[in-house]
Amino acid sequence: MTQTTRALRANILHAPTLGKIEALPHGVLIVEDGVIAGVFPELPEAYRGIETQDYGDRLLIPALCDLHLHAPQYPMMGMGMDLELLEWLNTYTFPGEERFADPEYAEGIYAALARELVKKGTTRAAIFASVHLPATRILVEELERAGISAYVGKVNMDRNCTGGLMEQAERSLGDTRVFVEELLARGGSVRPILTPRFSPNCTDALMQGLGALADEYDLPIQSHLSENESEVQWVRSLYPGAAGYWESYARFSLFRPRTLMAHCVHSDERERAAIRDHGVWVVHCPDSNVNLMSGIAPVRRMLNEGLSVALGSDISGGSTLSMMQIATIAIRASKQRRIETKGEDAFLTFAEAFYLATSAGAQYFGEGPGFRAGDPLHALVLDDGALPDSGRLPLENRLERLFYAADDRTIAARYANGKKLEAV
Ligand code: GUN
Ligand code: FE
Repeated sequence: MTQTTRALRANILHAPTLGKIEALPHGVLIVEDGVIAGVFPELPEAYRGIETQDYGDRLLIPALCDLHLHAPQYPMMGMGMDLELLEWLNTYTFPGEERFADPEYAEGIYAALARELVKKGTTRAAIFASVHLPATRILVEELERAGISAYVGKVNMDRNCTGGLMEQAERSLGDTRVFVEELLARGGSVRPILTPRFSPNCTDALMQGLGALADEYDLPIQSHLSENESEVQWVRSLYPGAAGYWESYARFSLFRPRTLMAHCVHSDERERAAIRDHGVWVVHCPDSNVNLMSGIAPVRRMLNEGLSVALGSDISGGSTLSMMQIATIAIRASKQRRIETKGEDAFLTFAEAFYLATSAGAQYFGEGPGFRAGDPLHALVLDDGALPDSGRLPLENRLERLFYAADDRTIAARYANGKKLEAV
């Protein structure tokens, strides 16, 4: 037994399988050198006498994961929500991202964003930066300083955007290579991910170069797919011979295991089959999809069909960073779909949404599902002591209530990568 073996005692709730929450009342989680050794109903004999952090009647859950957000859009959160995607990008998003040419501006915004992610209990994320290399480096530093594990991508775009963001393919690929090599050498909690913004913003030459880079360094990829009807039509006109939107990525070897595709609201059966067969992940962003009037993705159907699905805030298409809220918005959106399909599409249960917000995201990082022995500890301690009847209610109800009706003031402690994070 190492010197840093420790026990956390609390009401443990986690989701080792989709749709089922495992609860251990006053259970014990053992951490050795920041790595989970196991969760137990009682302190095992072998660990008797070790240092124990007793959280009493509080809840201990895996920390939250946000697998799709745009860091430079943080200042625009909650703005421009009367527009659909393409108009919104041109009016708010592109001008807002142009400001990240200024590293000083980036520093202030990214430091605040990293603190806010911690505050909201998100310790693992997949993040779009902007096209700017210096600002993207700053984002990496701020996330590492805050203790967050993340995939970060320098955005690539070399067509159909405003002058301030427009890149030349060669320069875009060169900067991306520099960023990737720097980050791999750094070996910290932030890892590189290739980030072609979406097909309409990337020439074939750029896509081809990114596919080659993905092969060379075995890199993951993140982008957008079938979010909005006008966007889908646009892509259809840009790739006349293609079987579907997905093919605009697949033909450049960008549609593969560890590719994250945000949205997939309008993916038809054939596209969903391609997603599954290529091992691509869908990142469902229900708050953004309603705000920008994109539609409601058939998430329950995707799960039935065997697709990998995780959740994203997609700020600032989404207007909250709280993955607890995003989980309940996903449930509401699925219920709206159930209403509209007259019951044909099932809704997401709370247990399923809890899994998507914790276990699914962790699996993208090669961890979980649930608190799994051998994984670095990412956890939140939730305190519902100020809410009515918490001493009497079943644990599952207390957890559901915290997701639906509470806010980040109930997060009493946060652990990321085995370390307790500073109070924020
Ligand atoms: N598609 C291309 N860029 C974006 C973006 O910044 N946000 C969203 N929601 N969709 C996009
Ligand atoms: Fe997005």
